[in-house]
Amino acid sequence: MNRRLFCTIVAGLMLAVLGRIVVVAQGNPEAAKVKNPVASTPESVTAGKQIFQKTCSPCHGITAEGGPGNDLIPPAPDLTDDQWDHGSTDGEVFDNIKNGVQPDLNMIPWKDQLKDPDIWNVVNYLRSIAKKK
Ligand code: HEC
Repeated sequence: MNRRLFCTIVAGLMLAVLGRIVVVAQGNPEAAKVKNPVASTPESVTAGKQIFQKTCSPCHGITAEGGPGNDLIPPAPDLTDDQWDHGSTDGEVFDNIKNGVQPDLNMIPWKDQLKDPDIWNVVNYLRSIAKKK
């Protein structure tokens, strides 16, 4: 292998590792600024619940308390506790659902399947079932 190719590969690996640390360690400041435009009415929460049970529960569990994962997909986190690895504001949760969770996208983007108002309904549903401290 020539030296230049070797350097390119090493630099690429380092960037991949660094990128992962940055992504894992924080939420998304831009997404955090986005306000939830859908009021948390009973209708919104019910609509969100239906979407959740159909679309999200296979991984996150029917109660949203997390799933065990399998050979292909790591465990899906509890969405009812107060621990959010990728941002806890409505805007960040919305962004994680819409665009998926980088870098592995084990949490896939739903933007092609769900319209924005439906994603906000799901956010409202998750808030409604959040465990009180
Ligand atoms: C194929 C399995 C799968 C499905 C289906 C799925 N998720 Fe996820 N989800 C995951 C995994 C795995 C993670 C953890 C990703 C990571 O940390 O890299 C995750 C992470 C998340 C997070 C970030 C949690 C945090 O701690 O910040 C949210 C929010 C979320 N999912 C919501 C949803 C919603 C809402 C749906 C339905 C529209 C859904 N997920 C469907 C597997 C799934």
